[in-house]
Amino acid sequence: MATVNFLAAPGGVLRGRVRVPGDKSISHRAIMLGSLAGGVTTIDGFLEGEDCLATLRAFRAMGVRIDGPDQGRVTVHGVGSRGLRAPAGPLDMGNSGTSMRLMVGILAGQAFDAVLTGDASLTRRPMRRVTEPLALMGARIETAATGAAPLRVRGGQRLAGIDYRLPMASAQVKSCLLLAGLYAEGTTRVVEPAPTRDHTERMLEGFGYPLRREGERVVALTGGGRLTGTTIDVPADISSAAFFLVGASLAPGSDLLLEHVGVNPTRTGVIDILRLMGANIEVLNPRLAGGEPVADLRVRHAPLRGIRVPEALVPLAIDEFPALFVAAAGAEGETVLTGAEELRVKESDRIQVMADGLAALGIAAEPTADGIVIRGGALSGGTVDSHGDHRVAMSFAMAAPRASDPIAIRDCTNVNTSFPGFVTLARNVGLTVQEQTTT
Ligand code: S3P
Repeated sequence: MATVNFLAAPGGVLRGRVRVPGDKSISHRAIMLGSLAGGVTTIDGFLEGEDCLATLRAFRAMGVRIDGPDQGRVTVHGVGSRGLRAPAGPLDMGNSGTSMRLMVGILAGQAFDAVLTGDASLTRRPMRRVTEPLALMGARIETAATGAAPLRVRGGQRLAGIDYRLPMASAQVKSCLLLAGLYAEGTTRVVEPAPTRDHTERMLEGFGYPLRREGERVVALTGGGRLTGTTIDVPADISSAAFFLVGASLAPGSDLLLEHVGVNPTRTGVIDILRLMGANIEVLNPRLAGGEPVADLRVRHAPLRGIRVPEALVPLAIDEFPALFVAAAGAEGETVLTGAEELRVKESDRIQVMADGLAALGIAAEPTADGIVIRGGALSGGTVDSHGDHRVAMSFAMAAPRASDPIAIRDCTNVNTSFPGFVTLARNVGLTVQEQTTT
């Protein structure tokens, strides 16, 4: 199979205005809730990346008519919560943990059996965090002996609501249980150890589904209600904008405007952390788009300094740490991260893989069980391996403005899971990065 590698030349100044692709979390949920709703849902700004396309194809395979995507426009002809049909074969979720963990919640409530599979990375990721609470609700799901996919979901079970305290801060687990809760008798109540992204809650409300929130960490819903089709405007993904917040902060002379970025407060930890490091980021023209806060982000170069990352910000920036580690490498002094053991079970072990890559670029990076210590310094060039992790690949491209020599980044094919067109967009704003395909 062809592999894509990146080659990033040293230097570059990031300037101009750009809109990065649509939010991945919101795009997944729009397909899912649109499919389960009565009537038509129109989505604009949909992320046409492989992860969200896996979700889209799965619902098509269960009989939902979905038109598009066509330049970010998707039309979902909802079948109602009881309208899905048995798929002809296993549903392949590719690299997408969000697809698998949210879908298993929906499938637990169906009348038919289904199997969820994925690629080598996804079939290594922990799934008991969803299958165990679903079993408490009455679901029947078999995992591999490791607790990972493939997941075999037995249909025709009666689900009952539970009161569940999440052992880890995970929006995927929370969302999975809320989606299963749509099919459960009684109330499903989820208590989080710390607030996580609340796109599922906001979107359920947008589809007219009643929800009860108790403070920032508790949400409850009662099964058996109806979702009504709606229109959804997907903002640009702050997780994709994050690479450019870091690149522009590090590259002297940079001044970049990122347009229409989702700034839901459960996602803006990256802005808070970069600002603590001394970054110059302005949040301009804040507004609401379909129940989600949106703004334009202006970022200018600024000298960064190392910090101790406040643990309360970790779940609010969970996907942005690969980029933040590159910021720490280009900062003066030491950055210390703790309370982030979840990073070890993402698309790769992001603590180890980033530490190895930073070391290859001459940076002292010490992994710990639940975080990392990075001492900022001069970045050399070198070869880093992304281990097929999209965010690792894009993060290392942002080290180029401060590197003395070219950075070769291996195994970048999966950048297409979340950020199709990354290389073109990065070049348009001033980075010299090339894509090279090897067979
Ligand atoms: C996501 C939740 C997070 C995040 C992932 C998307 C979601 O995962 O890392 O990229 O859309 O709910 P966890 O819930 O495992 O923290």
